[in-house]
Amino acid sequence: MSVGMTKEPQQQGAYLEVHGLTKQFGPVVAVSNLGFSAPPGSVTGFLGPNGAGKTTTLRMMLGLIKPTTGGATVGGVPYAQIAEPARAVGAVLDSLSLHPKRSAIGHLKIYAAAIGVPDSRAYEVLALVGLNDVADRKAGGFSLGMRQRLALATALLGDPPILILDEPANGLDPEGIHWLRDFLKAYARRGGTVLISSHILSEVEQLVDNVVIISRGSLVYQGTLDSLRTSVKSRILVTSSDPTKLTAALAEKGVGDATILPDGRLAVLGTTKEDISEVASTAGVQVFGMAAEQADLEQVFLSMTSGQFAAQAVPPPGQGYGPPQQGYGQPPGYGPPPGYGQPQPGYGPPPGYGPPPGYGQPQPGYGQPQPGYGQPQPGYGPPPQEYGPPLQEYGPPPGYGPPPGYGQTPDQQQGGN
Ligand SMILES: Nc1ncnc2c1ncn2[C@@H]1O[C@H](COP(=O)(O)OP(=O)(O)OP(=O)(O)O)[C@@H](O)[C@H]1O
Ligand SMILES: [Mg+2]
Repeated sequence: MSVGMTKEPQQQGAYLEVHGLTKQFGPVVAVSNLGFSAPPGSVTGFLGPNGAGKTTTLRMMLGLIKPTTGGATVGGVPYAQIAEPARAVGAVLDSLSLHPKRSAIGHLKIYAAAIGVPDSRAYEVLALVGLNDVADRKAGGFSLGMRQRLALATALLGDPPILILDEPANGLDPEGIHWLRDFLKAYARRGGTVLISSHILSEVEQLVDNVVIISRGSLVYQGTLDSLRTSVKSRILVTSSDPTKLTAALAEKGVGDATILPDGRLAVLGTTKEDISEVASTAGVQVFGMAAEQADLEQVFLSMTSGQFAAQAVPPPGQGYGPPQQGYGQPPGYGPPPGYGQPQPGYGPPPGYGPPPGYGQPQPGYGQPQPGYGQPQPGYGPPPQEYGPPLQEYGPPPGYGPPPGYGQTPDQQQGGN
């Protein structure tokens, strides 16, 4: 249903684009020369660990803070130049400021009036987010998940073709996450553009079509989730009577790509158990067992984003973990996924901007043997300067000015949350 001048998403075909975006807060470079796009008709996950610069990027995209350099466009236009922003982009950057004594529907009606949509739209969006049963309840008593839903409802009031949501799954219970997933997928299927941030890949894995991964404010990967997935190959771990002989036999036959692990097993990529058995039996090597091992997507994400922090916690080869090991030295298929390290079509870092530290280096957890391989990285924790000065308080969502007849919203009068 169109409201006012708003076109249906499929008519709009609105891309979100960010180019050369940099934001420096004093000595802190929160976002560094970032470029990516989110196409219509799909959900794009904007991923990075705490402090990576996600919220800062989204705030710049929405004109809430000024970039140091670079810019962003929404459907080809900088946000500040959009005549009716609430009808172009629905955004939730922070759990909404809510007047505690105001009901859910009362809250929505005020914002509906502010952007010139009828009260009936307030009821529609409340139903869309599944809050109609609590329409008259005071928002002050809402749980975090209910507040997230109400914030989303507010963003949907203008029936925008683009949604930008900062960590919307925070506070949602499993049912809520399921609901959000279905809702956003359906929205994208209608042609909408969705950009959704998260610091946990697995949280959005079943929802997103594309991923943009940042670390320390810089792009480390952009591509489809499918290509990230296919890059995570499985390897077969073979326990045998003579791993050295089996390695030579496999190499001679051109079967797979084998390396001997520190525990004596052979890790073989790019072949099947059947082929390994056949080569082993021809070579007279006894195979005691084979196990397929799938590298975890989340682990790849961690290795891509924690490099610069975790790298310091990993002793250099030859120190701390005994002699340099074969077998874990960047096994094929466990390195960066395709696209990682490659310039992104149209979005590669411009000259003068190198990849982030740790980029192109052996990934912690994959490059070097780690105690507890497959576990969270040693040293992976909140990076330094995570929690800088408190963020500015958020007022009404982007696109919403004070409602007609109000000098200020009661939220603002109370200082918001
Ligand atoms: N207003 C500000 N003043 C100073 N530094 C800031 C400000 N806003 C953000 N930063 C710094 O910029 C960096 C990126 O912060 P940002 O909030 O964008 O990260 P994030 O990826 O959203 O993290 P999280 O997953 O924790 O939400 C951090 O180092 C943060 O301390
Ligand atoms: Mg954030």
